[in-house]
Amino acid sequence: MSMSSSPVIVALDFPDQDSALALVDQLQPSLCRLKVGKELFTRLGPAFVETLVGKGFDVFLDLKFHDIPNTVAAACEAAADLGVWMMNVHASGGRRMMEAAMERLATKSHRPLLIAVTILTSLGEEDIHEIGFQGTPADNVLRLAALAESAGLDGVVCSPLEAAAIRARTRSDFQLVTPGVRPATASLDDQKRVMTPADAMQAGSSYLVIGRPVTAAADPLQALRDINASL
Ligand code: C5P
Repeated sequence: MSMSSSPVIVALDFPDQDSALALVDQLQPSLCRLKVGKELFTRLGPAFVETLVGKGFDVFLDLKFHDIPNTVAAACEAAADLGVWMMNVHASGGRRMMEAAMERLATKSHRPLLIAVTILTSLGEEDIHEIGFQGTPADNVLRLAALAESAGLDGVVCSPLEAAAIRARTRSDFQLVTPGVRPATASLDDQKRVMTPADAMQAGSSYLVIGRPVTAAADPLQALRDINASL
């Protein structure tokens, strides 16, 4: 496991296997990891994840589980059995859910990393109040990151703009996985608040989730090499 020394996780946001594999076959496990999300997983299923693992890539299975403890623990075990390197759950599923997932993963010979989503970055202050949270999104991010840490998880997904504040309040090996990263020369696409890869690492990120700056580049391998060289 952990084939790559690069912190880059390329987000495979593609609608079908042919386009996803056309990109993957231009990349190398030593230069990046891969993220499979709900769209691709729902279309292609576990066999596609096993294909990527079989090609030697570390795979982050980004399915953001949120259910009763027993169900999430069983789903995490199923993901571990696919050979994934990292997976995630919603911290708002609660301590018992996160602890149950960690306990189940601890029984596996190669334990994948388990990280938590705190507050989705698509939610603003009014949205979180409507579902019963108090305070600002930033307050809740810190509160839920602390809960995830105390439940024994390996880290959280967060904006690079939140990374320094979380880094200052969590143990040094807590993994911060940050999307919203753009090389200075790249298009913002639909991302609004971004950091460059080097700035995100400086702010405390452990891993950078990067999609379109690589996947939509004319030369994806060169785009990836340029990002790695900037770090
Ligand atoms: O193409 P781009 O670099 O914007 O892709 C970023 C990836 O990270 C996408 O898969 C997106 O769903 C994910 N993500 C994000 N912002 C979050 C959480 C996840 O961009 N807050």
